[in-house]
Amino acid sequence: MCGIVGALLNRGQVLAGMIEGLRVLEYRGYDSSGVALAGSDGLAIAKCAGRLEALECHLEASPAPPARAGIGHTRWATHGPATDRNAHPHKDGTGRLALVHNGIIENYLELRAELAEQGHEFLSETDSEVCAHLIGRELELGGTLVEAVARALKLVRGYYAIAVLYAGDEPELVCARQGPPLCVGLARDGTWIGSDVLALIPHTRDVIYLEDGDLAELSTSGVVVRDATGALVERELQRVDWDVNDASKGSYAHHMQKEIHEQADVLARTAFHRLDEEHGDVRFDESGWSDAELSGVSRIKIVACGTAWHAGLVARYMIEGLARIPVEVEYASEFRYRQPLCEPGTLAVAISQSGETADTLAALRLAADLGARTACICNVAGSTMVREVQSHILTQAGPEIGVASTKAFVAQVVVAYMLAVRLGRAQGVIDAEQGRRLVRDLRLLRPGLERLLSDEMVQKIQAISQRHKGVKGFLFLGRGVNFPIALEGALKLKEISYMHAEGYAAGEMKHGPIAMIEAWMTSVVITGHGAMAEKVRSNIEQIRARGGPVIAVGADQASLNLADEAIEVPASSVWLSPILNVIPLQMLSYEIARMRGCDIDKPRNLAKSVTVE
Ligand code: G6P
Repeated sequence: MCGIVGALLNRGQVLAGMIEGLRVLEYRGYDSSGVALAGSDGLAIAKCAGRLEALECHLEASPAPPARAGIGHTRWATHGPATDRNAHPHKDGTGRLALVHNGIIENYLELRAELAEQGHEFLSETDSEVCAHLIGRELELGGTLVEAVARALKLVRGYYAIAVLYAGDEPELVCARQGPPLCVGLARDGTWIGSDVLALIPHTRDVIYLEDGDLAELSTSGVVVRDATGALVERELQRVDWDVNDASKGSYAHHMQKEIHEQADVLARTAFHRLDEEHGDVRFDESGWSDAELSGVSRIKIVACGTAWHAGLVARYMIEGLARIPVEVEYASEFRYRQPLCEPGTLAVAISQSGETADTLAALRLAADLGARTACICNVAGSTMVREVQSHILTQAGPEIGVASTKAFVAQVVVAYMLAVRLGRAQGVIDAEQGRRLVRDLRLLRPGLERLLSDEMVQKIQAISQRHKGVKGFLFLGRGVNFPIALEGALKLKEISYMHAEGYAAGEMKHGPIAMIEAWMTSVVITGHGAMAEKVRSNIEQIRARGGPVIAVGADQASLNLADEAIEVPASSVWLSPILNVIPLQMLSYEIARMRGCDIDKPRNLAKSVTVE
């Protein structure tokens, strides 16, 4: 959703650093952007619809006055379309206070009507502007800015991360969080805020994560934090180990392309230090899990959204197949409103790249209320999810900027496999010998991934993409542990090329999708293993018999021979095949989207971190 930056500096100018932060955060929302600066002449605001470049052009044409304090925003519209007026920051009635907001103010219509009656004039259609006026009104009533913000927020219902800038004799900056994330960075040149640590990394690695209900008052040398009760609290200072280069495109054309090509390293980073080859086991040191705790798990509920939900589906096959524990996988948005039941012995596992997805967090909290033990598989160390669960496992994929998830997904599936081994070992279902084999298989996967990421493979996929980029639609089919990979292949293509694509379990083909087969409908079929291979071969035959073109992806040579296009994937155990099979599907989506001229890293209407419902 929206991105927020801000700073109160003890030296220098704030604008360039804020624009740098907004550039990193643009993946969160990219329909408009803006900045407010508090200098000696009061408040200056520049904002406009469109990408960040539009704001930069605007600032070049009408330079902003020098300032050491400011706030900035990239928007993903919720209330009112992407226009200059609806772009943040928004001012209060006095024109001395500016606010940026991520989230949703649910009672904004009532508040707006009340304020309008009191003479407040609104310039935008946003819910956020109401907050600026409310705080301005409270400030007029007396007290400090932080007191006014606290009073105003008591009147607000909804979810927010806000930053409020006041241009007084000395500029003041206050921020607050209820739901969407916000962190504070302590740097040499002053104090920075960001909705994401990525925005802080260019300035500092020393970060404080605000908690729900926190209100933070910045100074040029630090921050004072109060919790929801108004009590002063110390929030732990944490050191972020991500590198600023991790968030750059390097020599690649797109973040997504870079992230696809990082996946062999991601496997190594996520898995290799955790593999205990001697004992045929896996170590999740950060989880704090003991064998006793894991052996008491009798049921697993996985909650997640989007691509992470697909990783959850793969995890189900792996955990049920290897550790023999029943697993249910649910969309977090369904679980949270379904009046679900959690039996004793349930471990609820959330899977999330960001650790901030509103629905996944809510589902996890509900599972905890229902008595489940909670865990998450997450990519962001300081995220809300990691801080709230009893046990966490970090995916260590590094920052993922491309809105369409690739390397985070592969890391999630790698962790799911290791979790299946760990659970199987703790429950005595997998013996040391089998454990050693499973662990060794994972270690041996890297060369296969590297082969899939070679120039030769890129060229092959480019040629296939060229031939299929103009078809009417795509059907992705897979079976067993590769059924979720078919879903993920279809989702990737939809997200970034806007082509119609459906993922289906190959065994279901005859129950509907077969009606769609014709010359302009391409089927991407993931080949099977063992007994399943033959069944998938029949699917390919049936599609071809009806004149439908087939791209086969996988290691089963006989299936590849039957298809119009064959993408051969190195052989592996069935459990690890999803990790290999998904790579060509990611590359296919990428190449087709590129050939169709789509904005790959910022696909229309999508946001990377969905921090509101
Ligand atoms: C959005 C993103 C997806 C992601 C999903 C869940 O839809 O575009 O890439 O899979 O949210 O996000 P999470 O951060 O919880 O994995």
